[in-house]
Amino acid sequence: MFDEPRFLPVADTDLSGREREYLLQAFDSGWLSGSGPFVERFERGVADYCGVRHGLACANGTVALHLALLAFGVGPGDEVIVPSLTYIATANAVTYCGATPVFADCDPGTWNVSADAMRALITERTKGIIVVHLYGNPVDMDPVTALARQHGLFVVEDAAEAHGTLYKGRRAGIFGDVATFSFYGNKLMTTGEGGMVLTDNDDLMAKMRLLRGQGMDPARRYWFPMVGYNYRLTNLQCALGVAQLERLPEFLVNRRRLAARYAAVLADIPGISLQTEQGEGISSWWMFSIRLSDQATRDRVMAALAEVNIETRPLFWPLHMLPPYELAGANCPVSEAVGLSGLNLPTGGHVTDGDVDQIRSIIKQVIG
Ligand SMILES: Cc1ncc(COP(=O)(O)O)c(C=O)c1O
Repeated sequence: MFDEPRFLPVADTDLSGREREYLLQAFDSGWLSGSGPFVERFERGVADYCGVRHGLACANGTVALHLALLAFGVGPGDEVIVPSLTYIATANAVTYCGATPVFADCDPGTWNVSADAMRALITERTKGIIVVHLYGNPVDMDPVTALARQHGLFVVEDAAEAHGTLYKGRRAGIFGDVATFSFYGNKLMTTGEGGMVLTDNDDLMAKMRLLRGQGMDPARRYWFPMVGYNYRLTNLQCALGVAQLERLPEFLVNRRRLAARYAAVLADIPGISLQTEQGEGISSWWMFSIRLSDQATRDRVMAALAEVNIETRPLFWPLHMLPPYELAGANCPVSEAVGLSGLNLPTGGHVTDGDVDQIRSIIKQVIG
């Protein structure tokens, strides 16, 4: 009898810090719903970590985007420029507002949108831009904010994948008018499900706070001047978040070390290209990803790794190829080439040097 090879998941959750202790504290305190001491600690903690004045915890990263767009008054008739190569939530939040997402192509090196790609898409209906630090790799933000300022557009920074990502020495979360995070289970730090909006702007924060809590006037109980949402995050989940935030520096060190190792061992295999950090950016390496020469080769590599119980994920389908958005008339050839030929390798503290060596040798067998 042979033992089944160990299953190596593409992502893993490390709850070995104070997660259990804080969760029990929250449980014992009786604060179970969407307010309480851990909600405030988590909001303050993430805002301070990023160097932003206000943080507002919410149910997930998708509704964080929705709150941000609603705060800017996005509605029917408006266009918002978004990357094609991202998770679908980025565009769906625009659609929830009755507005139209307009898809921008990505750069073949960083796989991120650039100011140049977005400039060509601006029309008189454009209200704002959402940028995404894809897989944790920072967007070159200065040209984006300059473009937005020139055209009077808002910038939402979708940092769902970018906890601890650095651009010019500052942390992601500070570069948009509003930034959003996700704390879904596979993210660099997690609350199970969860999200947050960050901003320095008092008015935007007041609007998002109102919208998160059903629209109730904070000074007049059960008086609702508007239709809002119940988008709160529970004190229990925030207890996990506070503990995970304490671990974030360690998670980032592990990931950056792993990414360097993957890059070193894969460098000499022809036919592989890597997602590159642009000059002044340092990725969080939420997911270490590679590109093969084409989709068929990518699929063969994924199948060979699956054979030995190593999980991988294909990169995101470019959104303009998916049924809800295929009629958008987007022209994003680079997103198509990258999205269809790339895959995420297992990334996190659970991946050993031996795993990396095994992954390398399997890839080499398939394409070498
Ligand atoms: C870029 C991006 N935006 C938004 C989201 C949505 O976050 P959530 O799953 O917490 O709703 C995710 C992912 O999960 C994401 O990767």
